[in-house]
Amino acid sequence: MCGIVAYVGNKQAYPILIKGLKRLEYRGYDSAGIALFNDEINIYKKKGKVANLEEYTEDKNISGHIGMGHTRWATHGKPDDTNAHPHKSGNSDLAIIHNGIIENYAPLKEALINEGHVFETETDTEVLIHLIEELQKRDNLSIEEATRLALTKVIGAFAIVVMDKKDPGKIVAARKASPLVIGIGDGEFYIASDATPIVEYTNQVVYLKNEEIAVLTNTGEFSLKTISNIKQTPSIQELDLKIEELEKGGYDYFMLKEIHEQPKTIADGMRGRLSAEESWIRLGGLEEFENRITKAKRLIFVACGTSWHSGMIAEYLIEEYARINVEVEYASEFRYRNPVLDEKDVVIAISQSGETADTLAALEMAKEKGALTYGIVNVVGSSIARLTDAGSYIHAGPEIGVASTKAFTGQVTLLTMMALSLAHKKGTLPKSDYSRLLAEFENVPVKIEKLLKSCDEQCKFIADKIASASNALYLGRGLNFPVALEGALKLKEISYIHAEGYPAAEMKHGPIALIDENMPVIVTASNMSSYEKIISNIQEVKARKGYVIAIVPEGEKEIKKTADHIIEIPETEEIFTPLLTVIPLQLLSYYIAIIRGCNVDQPRNLAKSVTVE
Ligand code: F6R
Repeated sequence: MCGIVAYVGNKQAYPILIKGLKRLEYRGYDSAGIALFNDEINIYKKKGKVANLEEYTEDKNISGHIGMGHTRWATHGKPDDTNAHPHKSGNSDLAIIHNGIIENYAPLKEALINEGHVFETETDTEVLIHLIEELQKRDNLSIEEATRLALTKVIGAFAIVVMDKKDPGKIVAARKASPLVIGIGDGEFYIASDATPIVEYTNQVVYLKNEEIAVLTNTGEFSLKTISNIKQTPSIQELDLKIEELEKGGYDYFMLKEIHEQPKTIADGMRGRLSAEESWIRLGGLEEFENRITKAKRLIFVACGTSWHSGMIAEYLIEEYARINVEVEYASEFRYRNPVLDEKDVVIAISQSGETADTLAALEMAKEKGALTYGIVNVVGSSIARLTDAGSYIHAGPEIGVASTKAFTGQVTLLTMMALSLAHKKGTLPKSDYSRLLAEFENVPVKIEKLLKSCDEQCKFIADKIASASNALYLGRGLNFPVALEGALKLKEISYIHAEGYPAAEMKHGPIALIDENMPVIVTASNMSSYEKIISNIQEVKARKGYVIAIVPEGEKEIKKTADHIIEIPETEEIFTPLLTVIPLQLLSYYIAIIRGCNVDQPRNLAKSVTVE
């Protein structure tokens, strides 16, 4: 949450910052602001989107070769102009942008007030810049030393950038728990929360490690140390990111583009890892630890939101095929529960961003207790990818729409490969079944391509019928229960319709009371193993006048007679159905949100990367 971008060099900073902020807007859009050095530090900030800030700065002095920008997802203090970043020190010499939370800001603030500091905002960030100012003044310290010392006194998570009017050729950047990347240009540096604002200028980057502080100058100097004052050598990496991946490519919204990318991203996730012809699955990260994983007492998946739904699918698949005990935990609950864990457990984090604070903390705890940790992550080089003992990337490419789509199917693809690979290794899946499933797995991207074409108009039509509903119920059994949860989450987060996902059979234990003619009930009914039962569930809904939309296998005849609408998915093995049934649910949510006039890519109150608890 919150996006940070900064520049130091010889170019004009403003266009770099504004463009960077637009790329980072997915991380938060409560307010945006910039600070530019031009004799003075000029700060401009505005509530709302980056576009508001751009309009506001039209008649302002925006020149300067050093500057920083911030797009905010509010934690401390309401989203308004005052609480927007950057924040100044009391003497106005220093400016800061910050992503994260300073947990002990209250006692620090009180101590600073006692020293005579006056605060203008409600933010924890302003406390930090006053603390830096106080330390600088007290011992006549350089900006980097004062910042470093201040960071030894704060508790919490941060990625910060600091500028000092008295030392104008320099930027100080530091991080703990929140991510920060430094792009190295020709005598210039780009600093950002992720690589998206950097990629068009350089592909040479340094991912700042936890508790590191960097000093970057307009003469091309880069020095790095830990916050505890130990000198470090920057490790430069090459970015594997293309600028086209960050554009909408002709679609109205990133979400729609990302939905349509899924045949490709799923195929990318399988490439080089699965061969039906030679009957193998090879997941680099897994191979080294496969023995330990197949013998594990338990696999514990930790994740949040959509990634947690992928974990639930993994539970069904791994238990069914590899016969290993699996548990799926909300990372936020797991980390505070003092769970019983030891070195015979394997804790697997699933995360698109690789930065989710609760998932990271759950992993840290698991490591401390001796469990093997594994990461299933999309963003290359992210904190979770670096923290875990091993892992696999899903290779879905940058996901910019706040609502996760291609990352979900990327995760499910990876987890399905994992389940089959473990089953093969353990010998719990007959060889002939393994080969048959691999052959069908390779067909899945083409089937999704076909489905995207066949169901698009239908989803628009159905969206029109149900867009004015206030509530919706999503039902599914077995593997399609997590898909129902995912469908409900997609609808509520982008269209603000209250939606719930339920195991279809649980409906009669409560939610059935909600059903009347105004309640759309979306049933993912593709599992042939519980076909008869799901037909009964649909009849129970219809008997109460519910409005049923059913996702069914191609050529299905029974449900067609009862449901108000059916959407057919291409025939496939049951194990792969979540990859198909979720597609119409994504499109349905998208079209409903469009009809309701919602900003699909930037739903209210949300941010893509949740780096606070
Ligand atoms: C929903 C969504 C969120 C994320 C959750 C975890 O569409 O995107 O629920 O899935 O915040 O994020 P990651 O996967 O980055 O850990």
